[in-house]
Amino acid sequence: MDRRLGRILISRDEISARVTELGEAIGRDYQGRSPLLVGVLKGALVFTADLLRAIPLPGAMDFMAVSSYGAGTRSSGVVRLTADLALSIEGRDVIIVEDVIDSGRTISYLRRNLATRHPRSLALCVLLDKVSRREVDVDVDYVGFVIPDEFVVGYGLDFDGLHRNLADLAVLEPATVQV
Ligand code: PRP
Repeated sequence: MDRRLGRILISRDEISARVTELGEAIGRDYQGRSPLLVGVLKGALVFTADLLRAIPLPGAMDFMAVSSYGAGTRSSGVVRLTADLALSIEGRDVIIVEDVIDSGRTISYLRRNLATRHPRSLALCVLLDKVSRREVDVDVDYVGFVIPDEFVVGYGLDFDGLHRNLADLAVLEPATVQV
């Protein structure tokens, strides 16, 4: 289906303010430690970079990539690891950083996968939580925004690989609106 950019759901200023708050909260919770942010490519790349800079501690970052089979606006539920971390997380305070949780299947898979590597602690920070879409229970430690079940792009999120470069989070709508 053809789609076009619609209204802004969350502006760049709102994102920036919330990312600052999240970084401060993580800074308080991890006082005296050096958290390792694990960003989940590709969607969380932009958020991870901003969040790391908002944390007032000596922090580190690494990335892994997963893919849920199939294209389109819904994840299929089948998760595949396509690129692994460069660093060992053994004994580290790890915070998984995701752009969006939908069904919860991706993060559930990642949590299980990373837990087997013996981190000192394992937490989850997500920018956008589509709570109403949840199929798998997930404990989220830090949430940016709870959003409705709408397809959003921008700030790292894409549709068919595009729009990740938008500074705001916008709703993607059908190109032809019936009246
Ligand atoms: C998105 C998002 C999560 C996943 C969430 O990734 O980044 O990883 O979907 O969906 P779930 O909770 O239903 O599993 P996407 O497949 O769009 O890949 P991308 O990050 O490379 O854009």
